[in-house]
Amino acid sequence: MNNQLSVQHLLGIKDLTPEDIQLIFKHADEFKDVINRPIKKVPTLREITIANMFFENSTRTKLSFELAEKRLSADVVNFSASGSSVSKGETLIDTVNNILAMKVDMVVMRHPNPGAHQFLSQHVNTTIINAGDGTHEHPTQALLDAYSMREQLGELQGKKVLIVGDIKHSRVALSNIFCLQKLGAEVMVCGPSTLIPKHIAELGVQVSHNLDEALAWCDVANMLRIQLERQGSDNHVANFPSLREYSMRFGLSKAHLDKLDKKIIVMHPGPINRGVEITSDVADSEHSIILDQVENGVAVRMAVIFLLAAKIKRN
Ligand code: NCD
Repeated sequence: MNNQLSVQHLLGIKDLTPEDIQLIFKHADEFKDVINRPIKKVPTLREITIANMFFENSTRTKLSFELAEKRLSADVVNFSASGSSVSKGETLIDTVNNILAMKVDMVVMRHPNPGAHQFLSQHVNTTIINAGDGTHEHPTQALLDAYSMREQLGELQGKKVLIVGDIKHSRVALSNIFCLQKLGAEVMVCGPSTLIPKHIAELGVQVSHNLDEALAWCDVANMLRIQLERQGSDNHVANFPSLREYSMRFGLSKAHLDKLDKKIIVMHPGPINRGVEITSDVADSEHSIILDQVENGVAVRMAVIFLLAAKIKRN
């Protein structure tokens, strides 16, 4: 196996090779051992400084990156758009260049605009990790999701993964589709037709509008949140009649799982809207690996940061 990533930045899963993903998993296995030791830290990145720049809300992803950085002994600075000079009219390139002038080596960024990271990577001289760009990609979420599935099922070749919910506005959906396909899994998406992009089948995924049938097909069901904040001009009221109606047709409940003649794995990237996309008894059941996903997120992000930092030193 190659011991280096093929990319300088993590902008999206689309750019990674299957070997890159396996290399990240191999290092994540080692870092998972580290974070389960009494001293959860290694001195590996003592000479690296990382800026976390969040232009959108985040709980899990922000904390997870920060912990991953600290457990690698990197120096960390945090920036959030509210309260910053962004509201005074500063451009993204200027903001980032000012932060880089303070000798920052790597930027982890979440931004509402799809493609913001790609754009920045062409205009500033630093390593960039995408922590979510609008409705486009969320690569580390897809990596930690696939890593968590692999922990339960072994290699994902031939495994059947169902993604349910707001496929149209969710960056987790697109990154998961790319990642799972690169690992040889089959993917099906399920939701109301108004929340599924028209041409999604061209990506090689199956489409269902019937949750029971889709659940009978899958080994894993990844339940996504309705992105109420991203419905934009196509206001959610136009996409489905009400949250209550949505949850009746596409919310996962214990009754669905009891009907199956097999045990499937249930996932959710968080934040959960209990009672909308998933009921509490499912979220807290033995089927659910939601908190394993969160635990694995730190190890997977340590692996990504470690591998990209190795490329900085080499150049
Ligand atoms: C996701 C996100 O921000 O895209 N959450 C996360 O990173 N854990 C999913 C979501 O917001 O629904």
